[in-house]
Amino acid sequence: SKRIGILTGGGDCPGLNAVIRGVVKSAVGRGWKVVGIEDGFDGFLHPEKCRCLGLEEVRGILPLGGTILGTSNRGNPFAFPMVREGKVELVDVSDEVCSRIKHLGLSALVVVGGDGSLKIAQELMRRGVPIVGVPKTIDNDLLETDVTFGYNTALETATEALDKLHSTAESHHRVMVLEVMGRYAGWIALESGIAGGADVILVPEIPYDIEKVSQAILERGRRGRRFSVVVVAEGAFPKGGGRVVKEAAGGKSVVERLGGVGEAFSRELGGVLEMDIRVTVLGHLQRGGSPSTFDRCIGSRFGVKAVELIESEAFGHMVCLKGRHITSVPIEDAIRSLNLIDPGGEMVRHAEALGIMLGR
Ligand code: F6P
Repeated sequence: SKRIGILTGGGDCPGLNAVIRGVVKSAVGRGWKVVGIEDGFDGFLHPEKCRCLGLEEVRGILPLGGTILGTSNRGNPFAFPMVREGKVELVDVSDEVCSRIKHLGLSALVVVGGDGSLKIAQELMRRGVPIVGVPKTIDNDLLETDVTFGYNTALETATEALDKLHSTAESHHRVMVLEVMGRYAGWIALESGIAGGADVILVPEIPYDIEKVSQAILERGRRGRRFSVVVVAEGAFPKGGGRVVKEAAGGKSVVERLGGVGEAFSRELGGVLEMDIRVTVLGHLQRGGSPSTFDRCIGSRFGVKAVELIESEAFGHMVCLKGRHITSVPIEDAIRSLNLIDPGGEMVRHAEALGIMLGR
């Protein structure tokens, strides 16, 4: 009988609880024990944050958003923020984490996370911790899986918002700008924009030309369409300009703040276009709520597959969706870069064929 651990790392995402439940159900079915680590890798540093997860603990959690285990963005064991003499220092606490994993008697660890958490997982693998990964992110920016869980629910939220913004756009003859998540990858903007009938979609992969955006909106006006709906990914930026980024602790660049890009874009557009413009920042509404049917389903199946990988000792692998099959790939392949939109690819081409302006 085995004893395995599971943790959820990085931003929360609809479907995390489905994965946890899937892991617990299939592990318990094999007579194994499951230990839940609370608040991501952070939990290893606090004995009280490691608790047994049985069938009772996962009952009724399938439709719930968030993660019953809690999560954290700051628990990188190789660069752990600690306050020393009033200053925050990044300390390597990986030895402590590894010995804690040994002490807990875990024969494997399931890491449910995005690019950041899986990179940490890969490092811990090198230190001898047997790990399997489960790809999580609403941004859908992980390689080697057709889709990540959480993305579908986020898309539904963004599409619904676009439907709602259409009425005000049309009634008031306004430009309604919706800022959606997507720091590096514009998948949410692109697919919700197609589904929600957006007129303009701006993504980080295609720097936009403000003059051309304005021309496209004016051209619509000439055709009697006195309103426009624009979707802007939070990482979008103008041609010749740069992303709105800052250096965060640990040297990682992040978008400065949600809301910055939509506002900056509308100020720019307001400078070249005489129309009423309003911005809505969808923000963390995209990360919350009950997971969609699709996300519950692949989340649950990812959980089951993670346990199968442990059983066959396929450590260092990440579960993934390829076509209609749940299979696995080396974590290493999934984290070598991000899954970004191809500006010359099929989805962009189809969006343009639908008359959507992509900022170029
Ligand atoms: O990676 C998921 C994500 O939702 C991004 O799209 C967004 O930039 C970021 O997380 C927001 O993170 P936080 O919750 O830390 O503001």
